[in-house]
Amino acid sequence: MTHYDHKRREFLQRTALGVMATALPGFVLAEDSQINSRPSNAFKPDVEVEFISQVAEIPIMSGANTSVFKYYGKLLKGPKTSLKTMPGYLGPILNLMRGQKVRIWFYNQLPEPSIIHWHGMHVPQKMDGHPMYAIDQGGKYVYEFEVKNPAGTNWYHSHTHEMTATQVYSGLAGLITVTDEQEQKLDLPSGEFDIPIIIQDRRFTVGNQLQYIHRMRERMMGFLGDTILVNGKANSTIPVKTRAYRLRVLNGSNSRIYKLGWEDSTPLTVIGTDGGLLEKPETYPYIMLAPAERVELWVDFSGRELGSNLELRSLEYHGTMPHMHGGMRHGGRGMGGGMGMMMGGLHQGETFPIIKFYITKKVSDTPTLPKTLVKMRSLTEQEASNPDRPLSIAISMQHMSPQLNGRSFEMYDAMSVEKIPVNTIQKIRISHDNKSMSGGMGGMRGGGMGMMMSMAHPIHLHGQQFKILSRTLKIQDTSDSYATVKDGFIISGWKDTVLVMPGEEIEILKPFEDYTGLFLYHCHNLEHEDMGMMRNFYVS
Ligand code: C2O
Ligand code: CU
Ligand code: CU
Repeated sequence: MTHYDHKRREFLQRTALGVMATALPGFVLAEDSQINSRPSNAFKPDVEVEFISQVAEIPIMSGANTSVFKYYGKLLKGPKTSLKTMPGYLGPILNLMRGQKVRIWFYNQLPEPSIIHWHGMHVPQKMDGHPMYAIDQGGKYVYEFEVKNPAGTNWYHSHTHEMTATQVYSGLAGLITVTDEQEQKLDLPSGEFDIPIIIQDRRFTVGNQLQYIHRMRERMMGFLGDTILVNGKANSTIPVKTRAYRLRVLNGSNSRIYKLGWEDSTPLTVIGTDGGLLEKPETYPYIMLAPAERVELWVDFSGRELGSNLELRSLEYHGTMPHMHGGMRHGGRGMGGGMGMMMGGLHQGETFPIIKFYITKKVSDTPTLPKTLVKMRSLTEQEASNPDRPLSIAISMQHMSPQLNGRSFEMYDAMSVEKIPVNTIQKIRISHDNKSMSGGMGGMRGGGMGMMMSMAHPIHLHGQQFKILSRTLKIQDTSDSYATVKDGFIISGWKDTVLVMPGEEIEILKPFEDYTGLFLYHCHNLEHEDMGMMRNFYVS
């Protein structure tokens, strides 16, 4: 644990300086940067829970237990279903309803600082788990917020400065479901027919301990494990009946991107994305699911043979990792492949099984897939305050330093281009800054080279969900890599994370409503995030 001790010391030194009002830029009030350690009397919670983060010894692989970090939850007030314990290292599932007022007492018992972020939830700055609020071992943070999100699937995870990757990897994550009246009218599969599928990749030592990477080049590519876990278990099989199910799929991995597909090529039926349910179900041959993205699937096992299996797989794809040599599409797997091979692991883009469903029981009736789902909030470009001057999120990895808009993360910093008036809708253009990047990689010029040298980045924005306006490939795809992923992007739904492929430019529309303050935007490749590919928007 020397690594953590070191980080912790560094952190304490930083906070000692950081909380002084004089060290803060004028727009962050000293009061706003303070730990919220007390409940507010005016806030009357409908749901009250306690979360404790602890070191735990959990059986994951056969043999010795694995030492992990785990969130333990306890329901203090509210419906019994509000909190559901998960076996294994994952935190409990938080089941919320739109309109509920939620209070969460977070106690950090880990030997390092930590803070929880409610990913996808629309909450005030102080309740969002910004790393400025990390609390030390023995510390306490009180969250209070109203659930403003529509029905859907969100999640929570630690968001500690420069330690998000290792803490999430060690187990600090869990699922959040939100329900509302619109959803309840639909009578979607519920209870045992509503299943979380949290996909993560890990790497174990012979003694069953979690193994992580620390070398610079490996961190630049992001961590890739060789063991796929679903809901914290390896090689698991889910018994199902011959009827329809709702699967809430979350990619909770540090940097692995999955190309989801059924083994028998049955198309996937999508009913929801990061921001909730779609207007109507859509089918896809496969779905690209980058870190932090969620997709809700409707899967109907009726008509399947008793005793048969159906496997959900990650299918082969290309182009998300930098290629060191041009034109080597299948032979040259790029740096990511190189690393995987060195460590004897699974490459990014390789095909492998994720989870198996085993048909154990015949039942006679099944709900039918609704033709329409929910009425989504509609948003048009005309509503944006800057339709002709989009804000920019330019991704670069200059000099081995992952950056956004030419800058690395600084706790309280927001540039003038990162200031946003509250209660506006902004058009944002996310792109690769290939000029600066190829410059940093030894003077290679843009064009095809730029595409080969860049990698895919799942860009996430805190606060409200956004709509995707367009995805455009700006550079000709000479290697046909893009063709292996392009039919797996869902653009109709609300999103909080979007995978930006090499050469791609993505335009989004995002509301910045209700709350002022600092809200993060970052790459959800957690190694990139910790290396500084994260910035603040300042909403005022
Ligand atoms: Cu899922 Cu800023 O994080
Ligand atoms: Cu988030
Ligand atoms: Cu990235």
